[in-house]
Amino acid sequence: MILNFSKSRCRVFSPRKSKLASTSAARHIDPIKCKEPRMILFDAARAVRENAHAPYSNFKVGAALKTASGNVYVGCNVENVAYPEGTCAEAGAIAAMVAAGETEIAEVAVIADSPKPVTPCGGCRQKLSEFAGGDVVVTMLTTDGLQDVTTVGKLLPGQFDADFMTRT
Ligand code: THU
Repeated sequence: MILNFSKSRCRVFSPRKSKLASTSAARHIDPIKCKEPRMILFDAARAVRENAHAPYSNFKVGAALKTASGNVYVGCNVENVAYPEGTCAEAGAIAAMVAAGETEIAEVAVIADSPKPVTPCGGCRQKLSEFAGGDVVVTMLTTDGLQDVTTVGKLLPGQFDADFMTRT
């Protein structure tokens, strides 16, 4: 699913404003009062989470990626009875982005019904770093309003990248 939340082409979700927490400590926000365009990204992640296929863990996750163009791509976790075949929400959103011809992540949001904001798993951190610079903001949310903010670089210090495969 693709949404575009550049100011002039916003569809599906109306732009709202919010105070974005810039600390590493999780904090409560009131979704109704949040009016920043960034909230569109959060709303997209929240909405797609409803579609997650998680009958084995009962842990639904939604992810939304904004790209440099302003488009938003969403994904949810899709589990499988052969457990290792399941895929994470972030992987689904990345696949949607790449399938649409985009490769530059500008911002990330992940949401789950968890006691504290859910962080991308190790594999998803590597997948995100393939398409996102270290300074790309990742907002982690809970369905009841907690949020925590970090960056791709903080989530995956010392990442494996193509430089390791190049001898000069
Ligand atoms: N999950 C995600 O979708 N993203 C993450 O970053 C953490 C874990 C999913 C995978 C599995 O379907 C469920 O959460 C429980 O691990």
